[in-house]
Formats: sequence, structure tokens, C-alpha cells
Amino acid sequence: MKIIKCKNGNIMMTLKEVEDVSDKVIKSNDVDASFEKHVPQYEINKDTVLVFVNHVMEEDHYIEWIMVDYGDKQIIKHFVPGDEPKVEVDYQDGMIAYSYCNKHSLWVNQEITK
Ligand SMILES: [Fe+2]
Repeated sequence: MKIIKCKNGNIMMTLKEVEDVSDKVIKSNDVDASFEKHVPQYEINKDTVLVFVNHVMEEDHYIEWIMVDYGDKQIIKHFVPGDEPKVEVDYQDGMIAYSYCNKHSLWVNQEITK
């Protein structure tokens, strides 16, 4: 799976691995911004995980979405300014969490473990 920013500003997710894309694959954790304010954090509670981002949710600067990737399925929660950027999901070994800031792009946490 790749997350791609198209020339028109749309963000797309590939449903299978692709070798060549005409648009730009977004690199995660690649913008000069606060790591701790963008990388998804988590709290495990038995079999569920609360994934959240410690980020402002202002009109012009906010987390647009959090995606939890289980490999064979993805869960995406979208946010608007004023929301709390968090989602509670089932825990699974190997799960990965992404967040997307409208100003600072894509961030990932690949180390969600009990
Ligand atoms: Fe940001």
C-alpha cells in the first residue's frame, strides 16, 4: 500500500503495491515539524487500542485523518477542526497507525506493541 499526493492535491491510497506512479508518493515523518505532535500515540486497553495525536485542531491547522493499517484491512477516521483526533480500534500485532496533518503531511507509528 502506498499513500500518494496527486498533482491536483487529492490524496489517494493504492490497494496493491505499485512499482511506478506518476504522482508523488508521500514519505512519512519527512517534514521538518514536531515529531511528538504528529506521530500517532497509543494506549492499549486489553484487546483495544486508543490511537490519538497530540496536535492542535484549529481551522487552518489540524489532523485530517488517522488510519490504522492491519495489512489486510484499514480503518480510517476523518476529522474536522475542533474534533479530538483519536480513534479506538482492535489491537493486532503488527498494526501500523498513520496520521495526516493538513500542513505537515504524513506521519506513521510502526511500533504499536503491548
Ligand atoms: Fe501539523
